[in-house]
Amino acid sequence: MSETIKPHGGTLINRVVSGEERDRLLKEAVHYQQIPVNNWTVSDLDLIGIGAFSPLTGFMEEQDYKSVLERMRLANGAVWSIPIVLPVEEALAERLLIGEKVALVGEDDQVVYGVLDVRSVYQVDQREEAVKVFKTDDIEHPGVQKLFERPKTYVGGPIQLLNRPKPSKFQEFYFDPAETRKRFVQNGWKTVVGFQTRNPVHRAHEYIQKIAMEIVDGLFLNPLVGETKSDDISADVRMRSYLVLLDNYYPKQRTFLGVFPAAMRYAGPREAIFHAMVRKNYGCTHFIVGRDHAGVGDYYGTYEAQEIFKNFSAEDLGITPLFFEHSFFCTKCGNMGTSKTCPHDKSHHMHLSGTKVRSMLREGICPPAEFTRPEVAKVLIEGMSDHLVPSSNT
Ligand code: ADX
Repeated sequence: MSETIKPHGGTLINRVVSGEERDRLLKEAVHYQQIPVNNWTVSDLDLIGIGAFSPLTGFMEEQDYKSVLERMRLANGAVWSIPIVLPVEEALAERLLIGEKVALVGEDDQVVYGVLDVRSVYQVDQREEAVKVFKTDDIEHPGVQKLFERPKTYVGGPIQLLNRPKPSKFQEFYFDPAETRKRFVQNGWKTVVGFQTRNPVHRAHEYIQKIAMEIVDGLFLNPLVGETKSDDISADVRMRSYLVLLDNYYPKQRTFLGVFPAAMRYAGPREAIFHAMVRKNYGCTHFIVGRDHAGVGDYYGTYEAQEIFKNFSAEDLGITPLFFEHSFFCTKCGNMGTSKTCPHDKSHHMHLSGTKVRSMLREGICPPAEFTRPEVAKVLIEGMSDHLVPSSNT
């Protein structure tokens, strides 16, 4: 383990409780006040518990929350850009006492996922949070919309994880950070590049991944499979597309597919920092940030998610970001490139909008091979029969 990169904050957090201690807590939790939690919160709870969100040990208390909004750091100075919070209905929050333990109970399945030590109960200004985190308070922004739907009172404190959410499919691609770290060492990888995606891997993604693979030992393809907006391609279909792509075009000894079961925030620049910190916890030494990372619509500039990294020193970050310009296939070059490597004008660059690609797939038409590998297109077209892929333009 000594050969892997240090987790964010120095220690990989583990709040998973097992054995007798778990049995005892589950029995006790019956008598605690019950806080209903949705799937998003269960996912955050789980990711805190397994250390993916190290150094967080629980949902943010007011001091950390404010510090994250103001300066993209926790109160102790560690870089952190996205609030990880537990919103609770005001009537329920009013009954909570500092120092008591509460049970976090799945609102759909009544499972006690964990317990939380109440350390802080605080009201927030959601508009301010929206503007700080998403750079807009436009309700059309999917992240802002989610934020405004939640209660305005947050409860913070350390958690203990008692039950894990069970994936319905692709269980074999769920790895905790402790496991990925071990696997990277076993593979003999000293350097590992993490790749975040909420989309099928198109040729532009493949291009930047492979450039990175030329300079590091391994690729951790880490698609986000938690909650996404309804018009993103479902995680199921995407997983099938990743498998077929890896099988046909990636060296097995140098690639590792494991999912990131987090919700997508669509917070662009701030989410890029968050994504990088989390991948460090999974054991990545490098992290790819391309064009409009974690962006949506026109809310962020093409390279804003890269520029934000300038706010932090290499030591602050620990992980090395690898920045890539907008990549495309150039018909004149006959290969992929960016404005850094291709001298030809835009008329030679293949460009297909997300809307166009989705409408082609819906009609059963494969996008050009220069845009999407035919094997991937086939899986996506098949996916159309079980999943509707709507025609939004993001
Ligand atoms: S994201 O919301 O997860 O960032 P997406 O899956 O499209 O969306 O992107 C995954 C990664 O690839 C991000 O780092 C993004 O910036 C990068 N990326 C996507 N398309 C391109 C492109 N054409 N050129 C360069 N980078 C890209």
